[in-house]
Amino acid sequence: MFANLHNLSHHAAWRRQLEMILESTGEGIYGIDLKGRCIFINETGARMLGYTPDEVLGRPMHYLIHHSHADETLMPVHECRIYRAFQEGKGVRVDDEVLWRRDGSHFPAEYASHPIRDGDIVVGAVVTFNDITERKRTEMLLHEARDLLERRVTERTAELTAAHDHLRQSHEALRKLSAHLNSVREEERRHVARDIHDDLGAALTALQLDVNWLRQRLSGDASLSTKLDGMLDVGSHAMQAVRRILNDLRPGVLDHLGLWPALETLLQEFQRRSGLSCRYVCPPEVERCRLGRDAEIALYRIVQEVLTNVSRHARASSVQVDASAEGRDLVLRIVDNGQGMRVPLQPTSFGLLGMRERTLALGGKLDIVSEPGEGTAVILRLPGVIAGENA
Ligand SMILES: Nc1ncnc2c1ncn2[C@@H]1O[C@H](COP(=O)(O)OP(=O)(O)OP(=O)(O)O)[C@@H](O)[C@H]1O
Ligand SMILES: [Mg+2]
Repeated sequence: MFANLHNLSHHAAWRRQLEMILESTGEGIYGIDLKGRCIFINETGARMLGYTPDEVLGRPMHYLIHHSHADETLMPVHECRIYRAFQEGKGVRVDDEVLWRRDGSHFPAEYASHPIRDGDIVVGAVVTFNDITERKRTEMLLHEARDLLERRVTERTAELTAAHDHLRQSHEALRKLSAHLNSVREEERRHVARDIHDDLGAALTALQLDVNWLRQRLSGDASLSTKLDGMLDVGSHAMQAVRRILNDLRPGVLDHLGLWPALETLLQEFQRRSGLSCRYVCPPEVERCRLGRDAEIALYRIVQEVLTNVSRHARASSVQVDASAEGRDLVLRIVDNGQGMRVPLQPTSFGLLGMRERTLALGGKLDIVSEPGEGTAVILRLPGVIAGENA
């Protein structure tokens, strides 16, 4: 294409070369003189505007293609950024305006204007421009998609927050219900224990006294005496059974002497029944600590459940209950030397769940430390319940 250029005069060759470059670029290019009249325009530019180059040459470009904003309000020439820039001898790049076509329609355009200088003197400006309808459309779609996404994220976050709140409330309600059921159950146990003690206990005692009375009076009749001895035996077994049941329902020592002696009795009883070697450690500063009736019965039930688990699952030969004060925290450790277990992250079985819920209701923390073959330690911590030095 450039091969024949050497046939033209130097000036004409350059002119031709420049024309070819102007026509080959994909952008619209036009030049204006100081009055804003078109001094050249390439084919692409003229076509974008709906003209032929000849129809544009000599025309005032601002009034022809840049006279109004997109909303059709007029853009006076002194507000035109191309005009202002080349008045100041500067360049400018704009992508938020429209250019107008011959048929009265417009398109979003990106344009850049730079002054044409002859030495130090500005003699006009050259403007390159492009139809950016597609880019704007894509930008708008992107914008809409981002807005939509943000709205969705906001909605979803609100939904999740509401669901989370709902779940938390249900959880709290369940926890309260569980604490309430525990206290109702303890209250019922107390009633049943009192009734058994007052009615059954008193009746058995009266029966024992009466049989004894008969036994003394009928001592001459050997077969009757043997019969009455048998009845006295049955009576005293029944009394023992009643005492055991009463103790299970509501350990009297817990009410009369408090948690620490009650735990000692519980452990002695456990040793007698299970044959395991049991040890109980409780220093004086802990022995002095009273926690209130509900807290003490809760701790007692927890230790009861731990010991039941030891006898049912651990295959241990010894268990130690160790109460200690760490600062103002009360720490209760129940350690067995049995077969251990894999501790579930979230317990689902009722024994462990009940222990955890009871501890939480007391404002405490329960940890189970165990590995298969390593024994099991249940560690319960109640913060701030030990009286301070001056308390
Ligand atoms: N000291 C322990 N040594 C070994 N395994 C234990 C010990 N304590 C608990 N486990 C294991 O943890 C499981 C859960 O105990 P949890 O008390 O919750 O239920 P459970 O004793 O099986 O039944 P429940 O207490 O409801 O009658 C037990 O089944 C047992 O496998
Ligand atoms: Mg259990």
